[in-house]
Amino acid sequence: MNRIALASSTFDEPPVSEPRTRDALLSIRDLHLAYDGAPVLNGIDLTVARGQAVSIIGPSGSGKSTILRCINGLATPHRGSIHIDGIDVRAQQSDAERIALRKRVGFVFQQYYLFPHLSVLDNLTIAPRRVLGKSRAEAEHDAHALLAKVRLADKAHAYPGALSGGQQQRVAIARTLAMRPDLILFDEVTSALDPETVGEVLNVIGELADEGQTCVLVTHEMRFAADISDEVFFTERGVIVEHGPAAQLFGHPRNERTRLFLQRARGDDRNHLPLRAV
Ligand SMILES: Nc1ncnc2c1ncn2[C@@H]1O[C@H](COP(=O)(O)OP(=O)(O)OP(=O)(O)O)[C@@H](O)[C@H]1O
Ligand SMILES: [Mg+2]
Repeated sequence: MNRIALASSTFDEPPVSEPRTRDALLSIRDLHLAYDGAPVLNGIDLTVARGQAVSIIGPSGSGKSTILRCINGLATPHRGSIHIDGIDVRAQQSDAERIALRKRVGFVFQQYYLFPHLSVLDNLTIAPRRVLGKSRAEAEHDAHALLAKVRLADKAHAYPGALSGGQQQRVAIARTLAMRPDLILFDEVTSALDPETVGEVLNVIGELADEGQTCVLVTHEMRFAADISDEVFFTERGVIVEHGPAAQLFGHPRNERTRLFLQRARGDDRNHLPLRAV
């Protein structure tokens, strides 16, 4: 699962005006956002090449979720740019444009938000049928394949309430994959799970990353971030303090703040598994 060998130094500043250069799928430049005058993002720069898995780590409240929310248009920055495959996210103002954007960017949250009154199969087919216009037969064919991929082939006709948290989260991941997104954002998707189900969800995400699914993960699972990520970004108080290939950031952090943060995470690791940061 370790993809560090695939890492490339794509962060040597592609010009802002050419977000497609070096095959950047996601390009964020100088992003600023404040809530009620309180700054939350203070100039975020972040690039994700097509096929890369990138993690964002950092203390609680440092702006990690807000970055993800800006990427898919759920939060509105007041300065800076976000391009996805060359499309200017901030310029997508109409409902149709925003829906088109969200077809390309999947978002998996800590809470799974499955429809409780629909079977797993219907949870997976509803958007492909209604949004992508697929036939029921085609959508169900795809859904069964995706359920097999997340190792839930036998749960197609179950209802979410009859599944464990880890199983529901894997259904949520399959539902996101059903839209064939270019980019998937994962925000603390194992935080609400029982420890024994965390591994099964992380395995599924790891396999997706290995297959070349471009993704950005916010996670407190440091060991997982180290294993899966091509590039890791450490945030604090709305800025990227440090970023680099996973082996470098975890093995030889340059910044004192990163060092302290990881030290604390390692301290936790001695007492608790899996490794988590706070
Ligand atoms: N809708 C909102 N209105 C006001 N303040 C907000 C809003 N969303 C986030 N914030 C504030 O922005 C800051 C960054 O929040 P964010 O959720 O991005 O942090 P985070 O790094 O994801 O933290 P955690 O690890 O706890 O999830 C926090 O101080 C938070 O209180
Ligand atoms: Mg968060």
